[in-house]
Amino acid sequence: MKKLYGVGTGPGDKELLTLKAVRVIRDAEVIFAPNNRGKNMALDTAKDYIINKRVVLIDFHMGEVDKADYKTASEIIKNEIPHGEHGVFLTIGDPMIYSTFIFIMKELEDSDVEVEIVPGIPSFVAGAGISRTPIAVKGEKFLLCDEEPEAELLKSIDCVCALKVFKDKKKMIDIFDDKGFTYSYIKRCTLEDEKVLTDKEEILKEHDYMSFIMGRRYKND
Ligand SMILES: C[S@@+](CC[C@H](N)C(=O)[O-])C[C@H]1O[C@@H](n2cnc3c(N)ncnc32)[C@H](O)[C@@H]1O
Repeated sequence: MKKLYGVGTGPGDKELLTLKAVRVIRDAEVIFAPNNRGKNMALDTAKDYIINKRVVLIDFHMGEVDKADYKTASEIIKNEIPHGEHGVFLTIGDPMIYSTFIFIMKELEDSDVEVEIVPGIPSFVAGAGISRTPIAVKGEKFLLCDEEPEAELLKSIDCVCALKVFKDKKKMIDIFDDKGFTYSYIKRCTLEDEKVLTDKEEILKEHDYMSFIMGRRYKND
């Protein structure tokens, strides 16, 4: 039997790696991560624990990634992990949130590779603390999305976080303004060049993939 740990490395600050993540990375035979032009942020976060280890960066097509890509990735993983050993697939934040790993995990079902998840701190949870935006208090509803939600849906939501909206933020902010939400744009959170912006014009000038917007509506009390 072989084993693959899907490990969340958190938002980027090395101190936010979990103890379990560090242990399974240190003990791994091989480390996998998506290839972003020879780089990977999760790999950077964990690099202090990846010493004299085989690292396999897996290529995914630019643009739409399809089932065939995930199948190819899962074949690479199956071939690279020796019998009786374990490998680690690194993801930023948590592996169960908008991650490539979710599809690889699916492809590995019914194979000889057992899968275990090591959770990581999601980017928006770190960002909520940094921007002092409570995600939810008793009786409230939170929405996580990766595009602007329909305005209608926001009527029943108290807090919303939109990941991956680095290209089209205007629509999202217009909806927030219209529905009475305050908002924060959080870029590269927990990293040295972290930025938190609340001014609309300033936010619209930013275009970093490593960013998201949190919107919050407070009930009158
Ligand atoms: C493919 S999703 C991965 C989400 C990740 N699994 C998580 O739990 O946060 C990529 C998006 O996560 C967000 N993200 C991840 N790390 C971030 C960081 N350090 N600062 C700001 N946004 C981040 C951005 O919205 C980015 O477009």
